[in-house]
Amino acid sequence: MTKPAPNFDFIARPYRWFEYLTFGPYLERCRFSRLPEITGARRALVIGDGDGRFLTRLLQSNPDVLVDVIDLSPGMLKLLEQRVRNLGTEAHSRVAIHRADVRDFSPPESFTATGYDLVVTHFFLDCLTHLDLSRLTATLRPHLVPGARWLVSEFQVPEGGIVEPLSRFLVRSLYRAFGILTGLEVRELPAWDMLLERSGFSRFDERSWLGGLLTSEIWTFMATSAAADDSYAKDGPSFSPAGPF
Ligand SMILES: C[S@@+](CC[C@H](N)C(=O)[O-])C[C@H]1O[C@@H](n2cnc3c(N)ncnc32)[C@H](O)[C@@H]1O
Repeated sequence: MTKPAPNFDFIARPYRWFEYLTFGPYLERCRFSRLPEITGARRALVIGDGDGRFLTRLLQSNPDVLVDVIDLSPGMLKLLEQRVRNLGTEAHSRVAIHRADVRDFSPPESFTATGYDLVVTHFFLDCLTHLDLSRLTATLRPHLVPGARWLVSEFQVPEGGIVEPLSRFLVRSLYRAFGILTGLEVRELPAWDMLLERSGFSRFDERSWLGGLLTSEIWTFMATSAAADDSYAKDGPSFSPAGPF
């Protein structure tokens, strides 16, 4: 069953300060670290970007990119739009904002006639369940060009050593905090790497911070729609995901 939508409005303004207080500069390092590699994008889909700090940099480093942004929080989108406006009318004209719950989102015909060559999710996949993400990849796949890149920043629990229990504790605490502040009901990280693989993506590169707690990865879309495995989206899990954290 689909969980109720979280509400990030209440924390939209203080979000970046919460972030600096908890992780210092590391989430930004993780988020922005790939910008030098992500150039020449033409059609991008940015999901759950929050207050738009990444989006504005993407627009600056990719002067031809047209971007669809999806987020369900009006408070976050207001901040995002203001940031984009501050870049000027040319940059603003390259962005289409969709206020929507991505779990119910079915792109209209006109949404991406040419197909996306870039999808971006920074610290967003953790808001989805395994099933939500599986459905999302199945929905998006027909709208991607071969070779499209998916840029993921995410929390993870690295295996082994002292970092593992520490990361597990931090991830669990973050879920509790977001549960209280936004009503988010998800409590475990989806197995997004396995789901992306099943969906026809291949990991191109990964980089990590804080002993592996934060990861930034680039995945490349390799498969045709026919080759990918959608059974999870249709039938639900046939495996035991790691967690709960
Ligand atoms: C944890 S914040 C991440 C913000 C930013 N990407 C970052 O790097 O910190 C999650 C963002 O995703 C949005 N969001 C959460 N669930 C969503 C959903 N089901 N559909 C669309 N947006 C969602 C929230 O409104 C919020 O802006």
